[in-house]
Amino acid sequence: MVSVIKVEGVGRDFTVRKKVGRLRRNAFVVTAVTDLSFVVQRGEMVGYIGPNGAGKSTTIKMLTGILVPSTGELTVAGLTPSVERTELARKIGVVFGQRTTLWWDLPLRDSFELLRRIYRVPDPRFRTNMRTFSDLLDLGPLLDTPVRQLSLGQRMRGDIAAALLHDPEVVYLDEPTIGLDVVSKSNLRDFLRETNRERGTTVLLTTHDLDDIEQICSRVMVIDHGRLVYDGGLTGLHQLGGARRTLVVDLVEPAAALELPGAETVRVEGPRQWLSFPADASAAPLIADIAERHEVADLSIREPDIEAVIKQLYTNTSAWSSPPPFVE
Ligand SMILES: Nc1ncnc2c1ncn2[C@@H]1O[C@H](COP(=O)(O)OP(=O)(O)O)[C@@H](O)[C@H]1O
Ligand SMILES: [Mg+2]
Repeated sequence: MVSVIKVEGVGRDFTVRKKVGRLRRNAFVVTAVTDLSFVVQRGEMVGYIGPNGAGKSTTIKMLTGILVPSTGELTVAGLTPSVERTELARKIGVVFGQRTTLWWDLPLRDSFELLRRIYRVPDPRFRTNMRTFSDLLDLGPLLDTPVRQLSLGQRMRGDIAAALLHDPEVVYLDEPTIGLDVVSKSNLRDFLRETNRERGTTVLLTTHDLDDIEQICSRVMVIDHGRLVYDGGLTGLHQLGGARRTLVVDLVEPAAALELPGAETVRVEGPRQWLSFPADASAAPLIADIAERHEVADLSIREPDIEAVIKQLYTNTSAWSSPPPFVE
């Protein structure tokens, strides 16, 4: 395993001046990120989530070299971002969902041409990449359109291709699916998975859309109030949030609400009943219990809604936001 991103005890403060009364301004310090430590291995696809103002963008800016950490150390592809920013630029790709890195007035094709020169992408590589991206992102019909005339989804496809044109080792995506329709989102996710599989690109993805995480990432980091409060798999995240699964049973005959140990019957509708039980418990004993008492026509299990889990996680974090962070 090769560590591509190493972050150790990183913190970042901002000094903010706020007007007090009519003339005076008081300076105070906002801590955006505190004591952040994690390592990302080559080829990992990591989701980076947290509520607004948690410190996600600040982290990404430090990883690109735009911001210098106040404390701690970090390296990306063996480089110190803020010191070796130009060299790092050749090894990373960045996509900000909220703004474009493309030239607004130029046809998409010309933006790619400019980037090819800026990053000195060898000709054969450039042609291969353009072909691949055109295929996977369906860019062909857009290449001669000025960026300003593209829809948000089309522009995002262009931005992603632009970020990957020079074969970066690491890609940071800050809200790449924001404002995209369902089809564009799904194409984009397919593309990222494919790129990761084919090229071993390391991906760090910030998103509000938890479906992005579920469909792309094998690992999630949750940041809240500048602290890493979770780092692990999705399953662990479910358990951490105290999540519950739901067993939906269709009895052959309607019956009174089932009363079973380890589960709570939360809804009864004719022959159908909904039983809530802890996400980390097995459904097997429950099913056996039910089958012993009633004739069962059908069964299904609903996984916890990750959105609810995260919401709960954010509201619970104050209880365990002091170090060390919870690591699966
Ligand atoms: N340039 C800045 N000056 C002052 N405060 C900032 C600056 N950038 C970020 N912050 C503050 O740092 C915190 C984290 O912000 P940010 O990293 O943008 O969060 P996120 O991307 O998770 O929404 C917020 O409280 C924000 O107001
Ligand atoms: Mg942000």
